[in-house]
Amino acid sequence: MSSSDQPHDSASRRDFLKTSALVGAGAALVVPTGFSSSLFASGDDTVKVGLIGCGGRGTGAAGQALSTNGNVKLTAVGDAFPENARGVVDAVKGGLGSKGDRVQVKPENIFDGLDAYQKVIDSGVDLVILATPPGFRPIHFEYAVKAGKHVFMEKPVAVDAPGVRQVIEANKIAKEKKLKVGVGLQRHHQAGYLETIKRIKDGAIGDVVAMRAYWNGGGVWDPRKTREQCKTEMEYQVLNWYYYNWLSGDHICEQHIHNLDVINWVKGGKDKEAAYPVKANGMGGRQVRIDKKYGEIFDHHYVEYEYSDGSRLASQCRHIRGCWDSVSEFVTGTKGTSNPSGSIHGPGINWNFSEKQKDPYQVEHDDLFAAIRKGTEYNEGDNGAYSSMTAVLGRLCTYSGKEISWDDALKSNVSLAPKSYSWDAEPPVKANADGVYPIAVPGLTRVL
Ligand SMILES: NC(=O)c1ccc[n+]([C@@H]2O[C@H](COP(=O)([O-])OP(=O)(O)OC[C@H]3O[C@@H](n4cnc5c(N)ncnc54)[C@H](O)[C@@H]3O)[C@@H](O)[C@H]2O)c1
Repeated sequence: MSSSDQPHDSASRRDFLKTSALVGAGAALVVPTGFSSSLFASGDDTVKVGLIGCGGRGTGAAGQALSTNGNVKLTAVGDAFPENARGVVDAVKGGLGSKGDRVQVKPENIFDGLDAYQKVIDSGVDLVILATPPGFRPIHFEYAVKAGKHVFMEKPVAVDAPGVRQVIEANKIAKEKKLKVGVGLQRHHQAGYLETIKRIKDGAIGDVVAMRAYWNGGGVWDPRKTREQCKTEMEYQVLNWYYYNWLSGDHICEQHIHNLDVINWVKGGKDKEAAYPVKANGMGGRQVRIDKKYGEIFDHHYVEYEYSDGSRLASQCRHIRGCWDSVSEFVTGTKGTSNPSGSIHGPGINWNFSEKQKDPYQVEHDDLFAAIRKGTEYNEGDNGAYSSMTAVLGRLCTYSGKEISWDDALKSNVSLAPKSYSWDAEPPVKANADGVYPIAVPGLTRVL
């Protein structure tokens, strides 16, 4: 065994993870803390919801929040772009049918601009949904928690190590204030995953010794406007956010986090240290989606992650059409194999999850709102941050071509964020005179 094959042990990692309260299955401890109607701004049992980021997921999440049991209202919305903020009100109402009257957003509570988040949070809401591009998430989460709001935030929760640490720090305050924090890693609320991973943790396949995870598909939307159609470079990048790392973290963070998070969930358990990889190496590049309009992200990444028990995860994510597509996870144990979404096979075992599953996007809101109403502990923030870090670690490896430890990656002060946020501020990445953005070159690019 070479030294890089040795199981990793690290005091700093142990100390760091010791502070994280919640990991793994459901990531939601249910400990009664007592119900208090003063949790709600309106003084009754109505939960007033504010939406920040009024695109596809924000519209869906607002509808799901308003479909939970009990009195709940959407009272404020905010988006970088005014047309998105205005449009979401009717879109959410239209999707709710007979519950459409739960949308009660007064015109003065429709905000736009890069500071819209502060206005939504300060408008008297009880809970905010954070569904902007993830580069903004640490700032928005911290502001919401400091203002005493419950939060549902989409994944990933950060795109770099300073952002991950900012979320972890803000989440400590959330826990002190007994705020409820949901993170949009909805597989934790999907019956097939819950039952299968419970069986794996109960020993159905023995020790998990090898893992695979895939987000291979054709990619997402094409850039929405050209540079010439936008007034400033900042507007251009925020509008086409998927293709800029300070906003999206690359597609390994944006989408593949779901699959990495499932493997972390399988590997975690009583021993929180085991849940997150200790080091990784990888390769990747940009082979097909190479037009300058696609900014700076890669179109494929392969990462090999190593966990503290020496087991390894082979992870692929690809945005190239016409290839083998799969969004899935597989694990191999000493006694069998499993697809954690719902099957276990091996000598003497042939089990498939066969119950009807509720929509996990709805269940994650049902669970969060139930915790708010019952006053039970509910905080998915740390796991959201560490699974985001897992994806960031992968990108650092594929961009640099180096093997990088979790500890070195997590303590990194390399921030992707811009110095200031306004439409005429300079984004942290700039194109050359031909409109071409710098692309990472493994072996040359420094990431730490
Ligand atoms: N859990 C899931 O399965 C799932 C599915 C889809 C998207 N998502 C996540 O949801 C987030 C949003 O994705 P989407 O598909 O809705 O993208 P989108 O582009 O449709 O929507 C993002 C919205 O945020 C707005 N915005 C950008 N910067 C902002 C800022 N600083 N303040 C306020 N608004 C801002 C944009 O104008 C846009 O309306 C991403 O983090 C994504 O990963 C999660």
